[in-house]
Amino acid sequence: MTTEAKVAPPNPTPIVLSGIRPTGEIHLGNYFGAIRHFIDLQETDNDCLFFVADLHALTTAMEDKIDLDAASIDVLRWYLACGVDPSKALIYRQSDILEIPFFNLLLSMIAPEGEVRRCTTFKEKSADMETKNKMVTVGLFAYPVLMAADILFCNADIVPVGEDQLQHLEIAREIARRYNHYFGDNHLIVEPQPLKTAAIRVPGLVGEGKMSKSTGGPGNVIYLSDTPKQIRKKVMAAVTDTGPVVGEPMSQPMVNLYELLKLVAPSEVYEEYLARHATGEQKFYGYLKQAIAEHMTALIEPIQARYHSAECSAERVQEILDASSAKVRKIAQKNLAGMLKDMKFEHLAKQLAP
Ligand code: TRP
Repeated sequence: MTTEAKVAPPNPTPIVLSGIRPTGEIHLGNYFGAIRHFIDLQETDNDCLFFVADLHALTTAMEDKIDLDAASIDVLRWYLACGVDPSKALIYRQSDILEIPFFNLLLSMIAPEGEVRRCTTFKEKSADMETKNKMVTVGLFAYPVLMAADILFCNADIVPVGEDQLQHLEIAREIARRYNHYFGDNHLIVEPQPLKTAAIRVPGLVGEGKMSKSTGGPGNVIYLSDTPKQIRKKVMAAVTDTGPVVGEPMSQPMVNLYELLKLVAPSEVYEEYLARHATGEQKFYGYLKQAIAEHMTALIEPIQARYHSAECSAERVQEILDASSAKVRKIAQKNLAGMLKDMKFEHLAKQLAP
């Protein structure tokens, strides 16, 4: 006997949702991989939810000695400074939404253990932590399940994330399908889609990998709080090769530098440097780096100015959170009640939506 798969229809107004972990300072990887897309998306005809994933940061925060409260408020100040607008998007803190851990628990019962275990993010992160004698926890292992709770609690349609998060999103989709299959009588969960244009890898400065402090150290990362001098110093120290060779493929460190130039500079500037490379010109990498540093500074300076203004103060962030958490919790409670009913916890569902 074949039964038709139960599929939730997309929301009439698409729901867009994304978040960043407060694991340190916000850098250009966060900006180009996430925040920039938040700003574009809030201008479209979507319902946008952008949050700070402090519970996710707890997977490593004790070992990294991070003050989660301060770090979370700071991430939200940068959201505002970059232009995320609380009148166009719901901006909130993950841990303020008390229902999310309940979703997490229920979804963990149908989360595919094999797929979670195969996550490259977990393999890499746990290996890195073990070499540093840091504690690897069940919370870190179950990171994708909590991420599914973040996404599925509001039936999000579209999730703008970087390339490294696509595997997690696939797990969220599988969890949604399983829920609909096993339970979905009253409540159906939408299968969230990635936003293709957002799924990029922002390269770092010191070699092969992405822009991340944990994989490349502080010299690999440009923070939104860096001074022009710090930016210049880090960019000038970036890894290069000895010069282009006509007909040879470009080395990875150079691919990375051109990608960074493309992200920060106007396209003519990018094309000009690429053309110089293609002709085999020698000894121009210094100018290339200068151009990268200048355009990074030009991008970052106005953001910093706003960050230090009253519109982006910690007090302003707190006001925004006070207003948004009630709204987000209401959405969460409605959906949780539907799920609880389907999962035969009617007695709890009644408490949430009498
Ligand atoms: N894991 C994401 C990252 O590190 C952050 C995150 C947590 C997230 N929950 C999410 C992103 C839900 C999108 C949707 O970048």
